[in-house]
Amino acid sequence: MSDTWWRGAAIYQVYLRSFADGNGDGIGDLAGLRAKLPYLAELGVDAIWLNPWYPSPMADGGYDVADYRAIEPSFGTLTEAEDYISEAHALGIRTIIDIVPNHGSDQQEWFVAALAAGPGSLERERFIFRPGRDGGLPPNDWQSIFNGPAWTQVDDGEWYLHLFAPEQPDFNWRNPEVVEEFHSILRFWLDRGVDGIRIDSAAVLFKDLDSVEESYTDHDEVHDVYRGWRRITDSYEGRFLVGEMWMPDQERFALYLRPDEMQTAFNFDFLSRPWDADELRASIDLTLTTHVPIGAPPTWVLSNHDVTRPVTKYGRPDTSFSHQDRKHGMATDPVLGERRARAAALLAMALPGGLYVYQGEELGLPEVENLPDELLQDPLWVRSGGTDRGRDGCRVPIPWSGQEPPFGFGSGTPWLPQPADWKNLTVESQHDDQNSMLTLYRNGLRIRRTELGDGTLTWLDADPGVLLFARDSGLKCITNLSPAPVDLPPHTDLLLTSNPLENGKLPTDTTAWVR
Ligand code: NOJ
Repeated sequence: MSDTWWRGAAIYQVYLRSFADGNGDGIGDLAGLRAKLPYLAELGVDAIWLNPWYPSPMADGGYDVADYRAIEPSFGTLTEAEDYISEAHALGIRTIIDIVPNHGSDQQEWFVAALAAGPGSLERERFIFRPGRDGGLPPNDWQSIFNGPAWTQVDDGEWYLHLFAPEQPDFNWRNPEVVEEFHSILRFWLDRGVDGIRIDSAAVLFKDLDSVEESYTDHDEVHDVYRGWRRITDSYEGRFLVGEMWMPDQERFALYLRPDEMQTAFNFDFLSRPWDADELRASIDLTLTTHVPIGAPPTWVLSNHDVTRPVTKYGRPDTSFSHQDRKHGMATDPVLGERRARAAALLAMALPGGLYVYQGEELGLPEVENLPDELLQDPLWVRSGGTDRGRDGCRVPIPWSGQEPPFGFGSGTPWLPQPADWKNLTVESQHDDQNSMLTLYRNGLRIRRTELGDGTLTWLDADPGVLLFARDSGLKCITNLSPAPVDLPPHTDLLLTSNPLENGKLPTDTTAWVR
């Protein structure tokens, strides 16, 4: 296998807690994942990205890490994780883990020690502790990304910074001890055979606390951190970094992809665009212009554990939707949404670079928008005062088989309830159905593996509202976002369509691959 396998890889995102439960406690785990590896091999993915699997009080679904060198007990053990990595390798599947450098858990050893050691201690220097302002006010008025103040006061009167929840204290990246600690954590996992590192909240590590406005995104100092990480990953074979940066400025974004920093980053511009030909074309062009000159492969992402599921998002009548619309009762048309999600999947799979598929996307799962309020777990729900329902709706456990919940997820009651009508969306019900979303993904990924992936594209002339391009292999991809059926480009083979042709023409909201 090549050293740059990640350039065109199809990477499947496993949100472990919701994937498959092996021990019947209602929470997905490593035993469950290991049992489903044959499913993922058959689906045709090159790698699995696992959300944080470390011990965690789960104040933010595991992004509050209590121990960076161990496995969350409800997920399994370190030995099981090592077994999983080698079993996946044996099936040709690589592993990418999630490293969370901006913040730890308030239960993590360092933070517990910092609280005990008190003001002025070296232990506090690992975090961002400050005295407050007069009148019992926090050091500044910054708001947390999860709403509410970004500072919490401790018993001795000092305040600590948390860009996210109070249970997620931010590390002080200007302290060399923090830099060293993360180098050691990276080596710990690279030594255990992980093939890639997903870097959580990668752009926000450095803060300018004197700024009145929140000032933490994209400070120049952050690049040195990733240069250090790159030196470490380069000392192993075939490993890579993928950064999570939500940054509108593409020139600044590209700086993270310089030859001595990360190899790749998630493309959130594409994910954030509405279902509109001009918008998607603009995003594809912007992405290619950002990546191609610097030799970095683009990535294509339709969903993840933080955003509204595509079937629901693309079914919104107003195409100016946001990928984070989670208000009560927003209308969506599931039939339209599914049709567009199918077309979007084949479009994304045909683009040059890496592809990320979030668990359940291949089943066409919708966002679960009617979870009972009292079961919602995302800190966004409480911290927004109940105005943002948070991200639980895209984290509902996967339906594998059977006619009723828990749909083969495990023998226990799933930590979030599955809708009863998911009986038509189980892996079992879709597996042999030629028209299912699962079959579409399996076929698409199979063809993608040999004919698509890494490389370039050439745009071809097409009618308004139609995206048409050719890949190096000769495969052409056409997506019709116009209101009328269109002709396919000249071809000898029709390889795949997201929905059937009508009278030989490509109907609205459909993608076809031809040769
Ligand atoms: C991005 C992760 O994807 C999200 O789930 C998490 O809440 C934040 N980073 C904070 O770690």
